[in-house]
Amino acid sequence: MPGRHFLQIPGPTNVPDRVLRAIAQPTVDHRGPRFAELASHAFSQLKRVFQTSGHVVIYPSSGTGAWEAALVNTMSPGDRILMFDIGHFATLWKDMAERLGLIVDFVPGDWRHGVDPDLVASRLDADRAHAIKAIAAVHNETSTGVTSRVAQIRRAIDAARHPALLLVDTISSLGSIDYRHDEWGVDVTVSCSQKGLMLPPGLGFNAVSEKALTGSKSARLPRSYWDWSAMIRDNASGFFPYTPATNLLFGLHEAMAMLLEEGLPAVFARHRRHAEATRRAVDAWGLELHAVCREEFSSTLTAVAMPDGHDADRLRRVILERFDLSLGTGLGRLKGRVFRIGHLGDFNDLMLAGTLSGIEMGLAAAGVPFRAGGVTTALDYLADPGD
Ligand SMILES: Cc1ncc(COP(=O)(O)O)c(C=O)c1O
Repeated sequence: MPGRHFLQIPGPTNVPDRVLRAIAQPTVDHRGPRFAELASHAFSQLKRVFQTSGHVVIYPSSGTGAWEAALVNTMSPGDRILMFDIGHFATLWKDMAERLGLIVDFVPGDWRHGVDPDLVASRLDADRAHAIKAIAAVHNETSTGVTSRVAQIRRAIDAARHPALLLVDTISSLGSIDYRHDEWGVDVTVSCSQKGLMLPPGLGFNAVSEKALTGSKSARLPRSYWDWSAMIRDNASGFFPYTPATNLLFGLHEAMAMLLEEGLPAVFARHRRHAEATRRAVDAWGLELHAVCREEFSSTLTAVAMPDGHDADRLRRVILERFDLSLGTGLGRLKGRVFRIGHLGDFNDLMLAGTLSGIEMGLAAAGVPFRAGGVTTALDYLADPGD
């Protein structure tokens, strides 16, 4: 089809031309001075995006690798970890923890809410013996479009005076939704490259607190590739213990520069505004948001529930074939029941207008019952200089 494909899944996201050009450079010696200088600069930019002054470890991996790194560096066989069933990715992380030999307290949820800070408080209050070694939470659950309140989770842990580590997955929030590793007392922040950081897949990250680093010295889960210690030792001079993804790091450097030039507060406000416009369109169409709680609405994606008897994947197929627009599929138990609109990363008003137009035309083409006017409602909101 002529024109650019609309990649509006909630990651991987569109890679800006500036980043593509940065990646398309001759590969350099990853043990040479030019690379060390670039890597050192990328580390300091990355710390600003994680809002931390501590270490950020970069792996050549997907987000799943960064999940594993967080667990194997901090936990020992048979350790207890508190996790929350808020969606598909929370479930996959739980499955991994079990496979690694951890005992998971998996708090049930309805996949329409985030981690409830009150439940964190009650679980920790009940754990007088401090058997729970870590609490793991997904900040932005990409399967449901729900964002958990990490600052409040931190407050609940502090109020319970519990020493557990706090591990947070920011895979679909970092660089798009305000996130403060240091201020919120997070011990390990897990993230990766292909969502708000506007890169192709291939880089995984762990931001690590001093407490987590100290704990890693006595943590006994087997680890080699994921071991923080060799990484942190070599990163101090801009190098890596094994071959890093050199060209993706060129891209990372450029993507961080773009985020910092725009300014993180402006980046977060842009995402909030596009999310609000999207929700207004959904509402005007007479469709239902999957997320139910306003204070947990995600700024990076919107999951839309299908009317009864209509399959989300059929709608997605019609939209792809007719308009060359990719939307996110329903994952796990939400398969066929929701479609997800990604509005994150390198994204602007007209890209959103195009995305919503493709959906509105697709709803009609697929024979899904809806009210016309969602696009106009979103455009009115975007056009209002007051917003
Ligand atoms: C919240 C969340 N966690 C973890 C993952 C897994 O990351 P990856 O597919 O890069 O391994 C994803 C992927 O979309 C995600 O959205």
